[in-house]
Amino acid sequence: MPSAIQVSEFGGSEQLKFNPITIGAPAAGQVHLKQATCGLNFIDVYHRTGFYDIALPFIPGSEGAGTVVALGEGVANVAVGNRVAYAGSRGSYTEERLIAADQLVKLPDEISFEQASCMMLQGMTAQMLLRQVYEVKRGDTILVHAAAGGVGLIMCQWAAALGATVIGTVSTPEKAALAKAHGCHHPIIYTEQNFVEQVKKITNGHGVPVVYDSVGKTTFLDSLDCVEKRGLMVTFGQASGPIEPFSPLLLNVKGCLFLTRPTLFSYLDTREALDSASSELFEMVISGKIKININQTFALKDAAKAHDALESRATTGSTVLIV
Ligand SMILES: NC(=O)c1ccc[n+]([C@@H]2O[C@H](COP(=O)([O-])OP(=O)(O)OC[C@H]3O[C@@H](n4cnc5c(N)ncnc54)[C@H](OP(=O)(O)O)[C@@H]3O)[C@@H](O)[C@H]2O)c1
Repeated sequence: MPSAIQVSEFGGSEQLKFNPITIGAPAAGQVHLKQATCGLNFIDVYHRTGFYDIALPFIPGSEGAGTVVALGEGVANVAVGNRVAYAGSRGSYTEERLIAADQLVKLPDEISFEQASCMMLQGMTAQMLLRQVYEVKRGDTILVHAAAGGVGLIMCQWAAALGATVIGTVSTPEKAALAKAHGCHHPIIYTEQNFVEQVKKITNGHGVPVVYDSVGKTTFLDSLDCVEKRGLMVTFGQASGPIEPFSPLLLNVKGCLFLTRPTLFSYLDTREALDSASSELFEMVISGKIKININQTFALKDAAKAHDALESRATTGSTVLIV
């Protein structure tokens, strides 16, 4: 019988319990997937703590990779034995699962299960942010918060490959060195330095055309001061807590700014969008322009330890749970 991590009550990491589960036969359009690895993402913390209104009990985890072992009726896009990966269908912290076949992407031989399970969500988020929400161009200077994190390290490399100058914030000198080694031209240690002053200094007082802010509560207002006149503020996460409500007039006062709050799944709303984002990502990784930094691994049953590490800012790059 397979096992999975389950959450029966919202709360701390102690709510992540490893229990046996039963899996039925795949329904029409589904496959039975034997998982090799699962990715760890900050959204898993929001789910566990009850930040989003989701029904209990549930299996957390939003990305995984493994092998197709059985097909439901009508499945034509994958076959038994295919190596596949996915992002977005909650329930990935499990040894085996049923999943809709149309959410799966076949893995190129060059991409390992470990890489796949921590690049689908973080990497396609980077693709959405740098290629769709704001199309980063050669010569742009951009600001990326939490630059040494999972999404952050991928963004720094991708933006540098696009010809941008990357300013990134991080909490420690070690993270600054890591970000610098992965395309971040100007790491700022925002726990020691005022990042608004530093951004102004680097851009000769001009500011940047786009700020990517996933930290939320502790950075949001200062981030607005880094955006150039009529530039774009992208708030795409809240690792430090939710942003306080504010008047839209603030955007006027700060320079007639644009504000957006994207989520990956609103940009992956068609099969074409999934194929396009994932193939662009695979190409960046296979060509060596982006390295997926798996800097922590945990056994699936130790998911609580992985959550503790992520929430305490102890991780860098990506983290994999091994089944
Ligand atoms: N909108 C979307 O579709 C989407 C998709 C994927 C991810 N995201 C968001 O992107 C962000 C990054 O996700 P990730 O999985 O790659 O995580 P991560 O960046 O590896 O980890 C979060 C980082 O945030 C920073 N941070 C600042 N204040 C913090 C605090 N009080 N508590 C914890 N961390 C704090 C830390 O870096 P420092 O120590 O350097 O400050 C920490 O390492 C998250 O906010 C996530 O929700 C959004």
